[in-house]
Amino acid sequence: MQPTFFFILTVQVCTLVTCSGESITKFPAILIFGDSTVDTGNNNYILTIAQGNHRPYGQDFPGHIPTGRFSNGKLVPDFLASALGIKEAVPPFLLPDLSDDELRTGVSFASGGAGFDDLTGAAFGIIPVSKQPRYLESYIERLWRIVGEEEAQRIVSGALVVVTAGTNDLIYNFYDIPTRKPFFTIEAYQEFLQDKIQNFTKVFWKLGEGAVGLDWWKQDPCLNKAAPRSGTLHALPFRNRNHMDKEDVLDLIHMLLKGVQVCNLVTCSSESTTKFPAILIFGDSTVDTGNNNYIPTIAKGNHRPYGLDFPGHIPTGRFSNGKLVPDFLVSVLGIKEAVPPFLQPNLSDDELRTGVSFASGGAGFDDLTSAVIGIIPVSKQLRYLESYIERLRGAVGEGEAQRIVNGALGVVSAGTNDLIFNFYDIPTRKPFFTIEAYQDFLQDKIQNFTKDLYNLGCRTIVVSGLPPIGCLPIQMTTKSIIRNCVRSQNYDSQLYNDKLMKVLPRLQASLPRSRILYADIYTPLMDMINNPGKYGFLETGRGCCGTGLVEAGPL
Ligand SMILES: *[C@@H]1O[C@H](CO)[C@@H](O)[C@H](O)[C@H]1NC(C)=O
Ligand SMILES: *[C@@H]1O[C@H](CO)[C@@H](O)[C@H](O)[C@H]1NC(C)=O
Ligand SMILES: *[C@@H]1O[C@H](CO)[C@@H](O)[C@H](O)[C@H]1NC(C)=O
Repeated sequence: MQPTFFFILTVQVCTLVTCSGESITKFPAILIFGDSTVDTGNNNYILTIAQGNHRPYGQDFPGHIPTGRFSNGKLVPDFLASALGIKEAVPPFLLPDLSDDELRTGVSFASGGAGFDDLTGAAFGIIPVSKQPRYLESYIERLWRIVGEEEAQRIVSGALVVVTAGTNDLIYNFYDIPTRKPFFTIEAYQEFLQDKIQNFTKVFWKLGEGAVGLDWWKQDPCLNKAAPRSGTLHALPFRNRNHMDKEDVLDLIHMLLKGVQVCNLVTCSSESTTKFPAILIFGDSTVDTGNNNYIPTIAKGNHRPYGLDFPGHIPTGRFSNGKLVPDFLVSVLGIKEAVPPFLQPNLSDDELRTGVSFASGGAGFDDLTSAVIGIIPVSKQLRYLESYIERLRGAVGEGEAQRIVNGALGVVSAGTNDLIFNFYDIPTRKPFFTIEAYQDFLQDKIQNFTKDLYNLGCRTIVVSGLPPIGCLPIQMTTKSIIRNCVRSQNYDSQLYNDKLMKVLPRLQASLPRSRILYADIYTPLMDMINNPGKYGFLETGRGCCGTGLVEAGPL
């Protein structure tokens, strides 16, 4: 389960990066070159035996179909395009009925089996990396016809370009099939490959001059340093470096890549994928995907600026500019692309089968938390789970409903509102509790809640700890004159997390065949706050909108 956590955190990083706005608008498209690690299906359309269009490929891809990807599920480019808010999957350029929209947002030119060396994979008839820029030419021509010359140039020069290859060169040309070995030492062959990479980039340069005046390869001084290392992504040039510098972007990509690889492994290792037929979410605004839209409360996320970066740019009720952690999580686990709120009136059977969110923005474990604004406290979300199970039984039958709920991944994320709206800022509970006693009270609630979930059939339950509450913009504004993070509140959060880490294993031990897991959100968030540049942020002390000092909920 460790790796899944890791990804949860990585995903949060992405959400925040997306939040910082500037970074996202920077990549109108993604353009991919390389080998099977990034071929999203081009080999389907050429004469080669290196094809990923059959079982077991695609087992965990949405729809469970083999697509030509050499993977059980999505590939790095798909996750990357999704995390950057571009689209959910990157189509192969050779797909015959590529839509204008797909062209506009980018494609993969990669070919499974390819290498930088033209001899690599030549016997299979794949497209060597050196030939892939020819397809880029024809891509640009098509794009030109659709959107006009100027827009085509804007798209291509703004695109995120990813080149990943080199492994096949070493395996199929040096180690296992030593075609090149008699003529090169390993060092010499590596240098030969890197020379090829430089020539590859020069082809782009020429293409740019001739076709649409692309100047982005020419400008980038880091090009000559790009070297193929197996499994490493190389993000080549970015034109608008004034928005987010090269180091930031590389960090982002490495981070994504790390997360994604871990996830691919998780998905591959089978137990975990097939293990979660559905996801069931409980908690507050961090995981409410729209339930508050359907209840009488002022705490709603169904208006601007919420949803600005959500697919379709619509406010959905999520308290976020884009997707939330549950959405990324279901996508990575191959369940679906987004988690609907349980209260949505037109929920399909398919949505029911694969899980929903019961969370409500503003909620806490303590029923008193935000009671005045009419949200659904975490304890009441169980009632909705009961009615969910009823409906699920109606849709799929008793046995299957039980299998789904038993196998589901349960996620519980709350606690911040209890402390802010019941202790620190609106001290309803403060006269009656010390901070330690209130924390114990909350964790007692968590234990009761988790037991109730277990009794209703859930077996795998992830409970998140607290973030550094003292660094929330509203806390910095109201509790500190110079707007520093409020240290005492951060200390309280850590104390709470330490306790929770000890409570959950005991709880697990008391519930047969359960897995009750703690998710650390404190550490990565603190790192982002302290090192914004490392993650591509400019600002971590203010909210994104309005004054950025106090806004929360309906504001
Ligand atoms: C790179 O291009 C130069 C100039 O066209 C050529 O002489 C050289 O052989 C190429 N290098 C490789 C490794 O193909
Ligand atoms: C269901 O309702 C939501 C929210 O009102 C809407 O966005 C969505 O398109 C509807 N879906 C269907 C299948 O009608
Ligand atoms: C947890 O459940 C027990 C047993 O039902 C109950 O006595 C206790 O008050 C509950 N704890 C909280 C904090 O609600």
